[in-house]
Amino acid sequence: MIASVLPTYSRAPLTFTSGSGSWLTEADGRRFLDLGAGIAVNALGHAHPALVEALTTQAQSLWHVSNLYNIPAQQKLADMLVDQTFADTVFFTNSGTEACELAVKMARKYWYDKGQPARTEIIAFTGSFHGRSSAGIAAAGSEKMTKGFGPLLPGFTHLDFGDHDALNAAVSDKIAAIIVEPVQGEGGIRPLPDVCLKGLRDLCDQHGILMILDEVQCGMGRTGKLFAHEWAGITPDIMMVAKGIGGGFPLGAVLATENAASGMSAGTHGSTYGGNPLACAVGCAVMEIIATPAFLAEVCRKAGLLRQKLEGLVAAYPDVFEAVRGSGLMLGLKCKATNSDVVKAGYDQGVLTVPAADNVIRLLPPLTITQDEIGQAVARLDAAAAQIQSNLG
Ligand SMILES: Cc1ncc(COP(=O)(O)O)c(C=O)c1O
Repeated sequence: MIASVLPTYSRAPLTFTSGSGSWLTEADGRRFLDLGAGIAVNALGHAHPALVEALTTQAQSLWHVSNLYNIPAQQKLADMLVDQTFADTVFFTNSGTEACELAVKMARKYWYDKGQPARTEIIAFTGSFHGRSSAGIAAAGSEKMTKGFGPLLPGFTHLDFGDHDALNAAVSDKIAAIIVEPVQGEGGIRPLPDVCLKGLRDLCDQHGILMILDEVQCGMGRTGKLFAHEWAGITPDIMMVAKGIGGGFPLGAVLATENAASGMSAGTHGSTYGGNPLACAVGCAVMEIIATPAFLAEVCRKAGLLRQKLEGLVAAYPDVFEAVRGSGLMLGLKCKATNSDVVKAGYDQGVLTVPAADNVIRLLPPLTITQDEIGQAVARLDAAAAQIQSNLG
């Protein structure tokens, strides 16, 4: 008999009843150091007082009004994002997937309105992840995500990261946009080198192609800048944001330049919940904390410390781990042992990590993780690695 919850997830045998800071607790009191943070969602950890306060205060006055009316928290959050980024305008969604839908629609509408309706093709990259909607899976293109779900949304070309010849060959006057994650998350924490991101920007500029960055996982302070593309000194035309921006409350956004958004007039897009007062109240509280130089400097400092300790772990357990990679507090341990075994061994030691493609385990701790917790995290990963090593014989 089918489970009452559609069985699309393979879940770990863990059930948490509360969370505080970097820790999750089961009903029997067992505590876990959370290096997954809801897959890069709980950017400020669990039950951050400023977020609890923002949510409960908003909940006591107004939960929801539709986008038929003005929503002050939405306006405030949009102003903050416009202030702090390349963007001139913001549309709020509930998730990263919905942000992908709009990014694709926006790029196509742009060219339609410019009198080039056939300019609809989008270049994407293998190993990418942009969500599970029809546009999202077509953009990612992997067999794992698309098999059995055809016919797929047409108009996506998939290239390998770093294949410059294929990229140059793929560029034509049919290309509306290029979509790329500055650091692939689900794909196994694969950062696109800054020089490549710059190269992509140049290519887009030469051919008038719109650059869409998917910063759903790598944005919102995760790499030590508010958005990962800032490291490369470039700006996109359209950017997808979600996960960390709501700190655990469902919220996403599409940020765009005035030019890229020029096709999106009243009635061309909408959402019942997107930009809801509760979500935006929390989003403002998240931005007030993360989008400050001191907070981001602290992310960089802690990231350096964690990375250094992980390098030590790789050196100590060469049969278990192969390398550390990533950016900021978006780190991956490429495994030699099976990554899911390492994740499970972590559970036994009270530390949570997240598997990714390419036999990687992801470490995406709350950005508020303390120096002491970093030490504890690595000690627990060390114990997990020792367990795996002894099983390997
Ligand atoms: C880079 C990226 N884009 C898009 C998504 C989809 O976001 P959501 O699950 O909020 O729909 C994800 C989710 O993991 C992601 O990592």
